[in-house]
Amino acid sequence: MNDKVNTGHNIEDKELIKNARKPVGDLGEKILDRMNKSHESMASWGVSHFKINPGDKILDIGCGGGRNIERFASEISHEGKVIGIDYSEVSVEKSTKLNKKAIDEGKVEVIQGSVSEMPFDDNSFDIVTGFETIYFWPDFINDLKEVNRILKKDGLVFFCNEAVYHEGKMEKYEDLIELLDMKIYSQEVLAESLEKTGFKDFKAYVNDEKDWICITARKI
Ligand SMILES: C[S@@+](CC[C@H](N)C(=O)[O-])C[C@H]1O[C@@H](n2cnc3c(N)ncnc32)[C@H](O)[C@@H]1O
Repeated sequence: MNDKVNTGHNIEDKELIKNARKPVGDLGEKILDRMNKSHESMASWGVSHFKINPGDKILDIGCGGGRNIERFASEISHEGKVIGIDYSEVSVEKSTKLNKKAIDEGKVEVIQGSVSEMPFDDNSFDIVTGFETIYFWPDFINDLKEVNRILKKDGLVFFCNEAVYHEGKMEKYEDLIELLDMKIYSQEVLAESLEKTGFKDFKAYVNDEKDWICITARKI
């Protein structure tokens, strides 16, 4: 059993699941292919909570296998742009491969980099998203300030997670938290963190049956 981990949803191979934090090599590729599919129902539920305009400039942080880049690219015109950023080389390769056509058309770009220091000017984006990634950000408050910096005034931040912190109910995630050194946030901590880093209009949507949460807020 010690090569297995309880993810809170399933029993899985440890070596594969380790790659959720920063995909590398063949197992990294494998988990990215899988996440593009396994996150689809949560992601499509999540994105139903905000609206995209055809000319929007959108950044997806921790873009992984690139499925959300593909989704957003299908919703914008050539006036808009979707950029994906991820600190994993394999994630950048996978996202690039999946979105090759849109990249060639100039609608999409994928770059390697960390959320903590992003190579974008202040006030650049209409929307910044993060699916299943904030668990791994090294310094959540500073990283939120960095997200705030690159958003335009009134720009939207959106995060979507398939694990939510509920006091006294975290036993099922203990193995995963230890394996991945991840932080699972409650709705309250997300609200407070965004409020103190320059955001307003916080809204949370929770699916209790699945243990999904997605949130939106706007740059002040
Ligand atoms: C669990 S995967 C989710 C991938 C994709 N968003 C999805 O929903 O399928 C987490 C992704 O976040 C990326 N990531 C984690 N920490 C990061 C950081 N500090 N800066 C940039 N990317 C990060 C990882 O490399 C990985 O590709």
